[in-house]
Parts: sequence; structure tokens; C-alpha cells
Amino acid sequence: MHDWLEGRIAIITGASAGIGEAVARDFAHRGARLVLNARRESRLREIAEDLGPERVEIVPGDAADDAVIDRLFAAARTRFEEEADLVVVNAGRGLNGSVTTSDTAEWEEMIRVNLLGAAKLMRAASHNLLADIENSGVSWQQEARDIVVLGSTVGRHVSPFSSMYGSTKFAVNSLAEALRREIGPKGVRVSLIEPGFVRSEFQGVAGYAEDWFAEVVDRIGPVLTPEDCAEIISFIVSRPPAVHLSDALIRPTRQDYP
Ligand SMILES: NC(=O)c1ccc[n+]([C@@H]2O[C@H](COP(=O)([O-])OP(=O)(O)OC[C@H]3O[C@@H](n4cnc5c(N)ncnc54)[C@H](OP(=O)(O)O)[C@@H]3O)[C@@H](O)[C@H]2O)c1
Repeated sequence: MHDWLEGRIAIITGASAGIGEAVARDFAHRGARLVLNARRESRLREIAEDLGPERVEIVPGDAADDAVIDRLFAAARTRFEEEADLVVVNAGRGLNGSVTTSDTAEWEEMIRVNLLGAAKLMRAASHNLLADIENSGVSWQQEARDIVVLGSTVGRHVSPFSSMYGSTKFAVNSLAEALRREIGPKGVRVSLIEPGFVRSEFQGVAGYAEDWFAEVVDRIGPVLTPEDCAEIISFIVSRPPAVHLSDALIRPTRQDYP
């Protein structure tokens, strides 16, 4: 059976760990070529080595930096001599606490990466994918073009215990749907993925107390793995070009809230 992922060129930010790494591995196993970004170059090199350097290019750096974003698209072009046709807007971080309890010293950095970085990449991806439809002679019916955006369940349902983080994901949720309405009619699929609890480096970076997270896992676990999310993202982007599953809310079965 034809796999619509075979031969595609995917840019993935935040690919050195967690969901981004799992997506990179799943895409590679299904025949895609990859441009991977994260700040930890050594981790990206290890993953590239593992997946086969012939199918992976790495662009280390801050995913919210304009020059890095430009390099992602340029890397696809120079390395694979084709335009990227699939962009996973994944780099991001959590922050423990609410409006009243979270560390205000972390607010700007989180908003910069989760919201501004995501918006800049969505904009660049839109320009590049639309230009490719225009210039390549390969129509959207022949080959799918995708932008996949990592939102969160707390970007759809209000969570009083991680409300500052949730606010960035509410913003990303609205941007993804707005962008879908803008460029879907031109043949680019914009899909929003909204995971619940996923065990990854996220909890440590966000500063969750270990005993609090252990209690969550006891109550609602097993929580999701990055691979659970990757499998669903691969399913979405491997639909035929005229089929769009635009929104996926993925929870551990026993997660009642949010
Ligand atoms: N885990 C969850 O429960 C959960 C639930 C819903 C949504 N999400 C969302 O899913 C996405 C991935 O989360 P995850 O669980 O996979 O977290 P993770 O394991 O902490 O991975 C985050 C990835 O993003 C990269 N990253 C962070 N800041 C970056 C920056 N400024 N520039 C480039 N790369 C950066 C990290 O690599 P470097 O440190 O090497 O840069 C890492 O590869 C995030 O957008 C997160 O908000 C997670």
C-alpha cells in the first residue's frame, strides 16, 4: 500500500527529546527525510546517526530565532534539493504553577518559545509551502503539504494549575485554526495536536514536583508516551492529500481533567 509519508521532507523543531524525537523516528521509519532542530546539537547528532545520516540534516539552535527558522527551510533545499513539505511546530516548554504561583522570571522565555517561536515558524512554513505549490508544478492533490502544531489539552480546557503555560497553548490553538482557515483552501493542511499528560523531559523542564507527578500517574496512569503521540501525528499526515484530520485531542484513558 502507498504510504503518503514515503519520500516527504519534514522539518521538526524540538527533535532532541520527547514527542519531537519520537515523531522524527516514526517519520524516518516510514521513509521520510528529515531536518531536525533543537538546541542540543550532540543529541541531534546521535539521533541522526541512529536514523541514517543520509536521510537526516540537523539545524541546531533556538527554534524562536528568525535566522534558525530560515536555515531550516534552506537546509531542506540544499541537502535534499527539494522544498520541505511537512513542518512540525513542536519546540516548547511547560511551566509549573498558576497566574499566582508560577515563577514570573520564566514567563517571557516561555511565551517567546511557545507562542512567538511557534507563530514565526507557522508563518515561514505557510510562505514556503504555498510558494512550493505555486512553483513546483506539483499540485496539492498530487502531494500533501502539512503544518502540524503541538497544542495541549490545557490549550482547550482551562487548567488552573498550569494556567500560564495553558495560555500559550490557547494562543497556539487559535493560531492553528486561524491558519487552517487561511491556507487550507489553498491546499495546505494545518493540524493541531492536543496531548494530555505525556511522560517526557517536559515535567523536569516545567519544574513539576516529583511527588505531585507521581500522584498524577497513580491516579490516571499510565500516562501517554511520546510514541503514542507520534503514531497519531504520522496517521494524520499520511492521509491522502484531500483528507484532513485537523484536530486531535489525545488523553491517557483515565485522564478526567483537564
Ligand atoms: N509532555 C506533555 O505532557 C505535553 C502535553 C501537551 C503538549 N506538549 C507539548 O509538546 C511539545 C513537546 O513537548 P515534550 O513533552 O516532547 O517535551 P520535552 O521532552 O521537554 O522536549 C522538548 C523539546 O523541545 C526542545 N526545545 C525546547 N526549547 C527549545 C528552543 N527554544 N529551541 C529549540 N528547541 C527547543 C528541546 O530540546 P533542547 O533542550 O535540546 O533545545 C526538546 O527537544 C511542546 O510544545 C509541549 O508544550 C507536551
